[in-house]
Amino acid sequence: MSLEGKAALVTGAASGIGRAVAARLEEAGMNVLAVDLHPDREGPGVAYEADLTLAEANAAAVAAARERFGRLDVVVPNAGVQHVAPIDEFPEERWQTIVSLMLTSPFMLAKHAWPALRDSGSGRFIAIVSVHGLVASPYKAAYVSAKHGLIGLVKTLALEGADAGIRATAVCPGYVRTPLVEAQISDQARAHGLPEDRVLEDVILAPHAVKELIEPSEVAEVVAFLAGPAGRAFTGVPVMMDQGWTAR
Ligand SMILES: NC(=O)c1ccc[n+]([C@@H]2O[C@H](COP(=O)([O-])OP(=O)(O)OC[C@H]3O[C@@H](n4cnc5c(N)ncnc54)[C@H](O)[C@@H]3O)[C@@H](O)[C@H]2O)c1
Repeated sequence: MSLEGKAALVTGAASGIGRAVAARLEEAGMNVLAVDLHPDREGPGVAYEADLTLAEANAAAVAAARERFGRLDVVVPNAGVQHVAPIDEFPEERWQTIVSLMLTSPFMLAKHAWPALRDSGSGRFIAIVSVHGLVASPYKAAYVSAKHGLIGLVKTLALEGADAGIRATAVCPGYVRTPLVEAQISDQARAHGLPEDRVLEDVILAPHAVKELIEPSEVAEVVAFLAGPAGRAFTGVPVMMDQGWTAR
């Protein structure tokens, strides 16, 4: 059951983790639909533009992958954004955007991809979640809530897909070196009242036992493992790669 000739849909594939995942799955011989709000035509996979906060865009992306590749074996919901603010100041439209993008979009992708994942015989739904699917941090109400919900979706899909050979997993990294993390540095500095140069060590990496950022390629390697034959026994579980964060 090699990945050669199979098809994947990866969201948020123009940057950071999604880009690394699309490149890694392509390297394994897969056809990849690289879905993004701002697709990179030079990046890995077949670039496809979609605003995944819109429910119908998710159905259209799945249809595009099936039409283009004639099958769909692996779905990687990854697109995400962050907003850092105390609860009493948290903008309601940011809550809506984050829940739409990071919880409703994975649900819509699963719903519409389900027949193709069933036909695959070895379908995989591999959500890029976060350590924030299991633990919280202050000032991230929407992100933490959406990620906790996404683990619930993964567990449900694992049970529903079991008889059809579909596996669903939640990859849960600690902090990864991507633009999403770099963009948080100034917001975190403001929220914590710290100079920006202290934020990486004192705030961002503080909960890691190992004070090192994870590389996007390392997350992509785990996704490739879960997508392939060796990932067969992983379903309905968070796959932690958090530099010791949740060991406490
Ligand atoms: N970077 C980290 O430390 C880290 C840690 C754990 C989990 N994650 C998760 O990994 C995923 C990817 O994060 P990243 O750090 O690579 O982020 P990133 O900012 O580098 O990339 C996110 C991508 O999502 C796309 N996107 C944003 N809104 C979209 C929309 N409405 N429709 C379609 N695409 C949209 C962006 O254009 C961008 O290309 C997210 O779900 C994030 O929560 C990141």
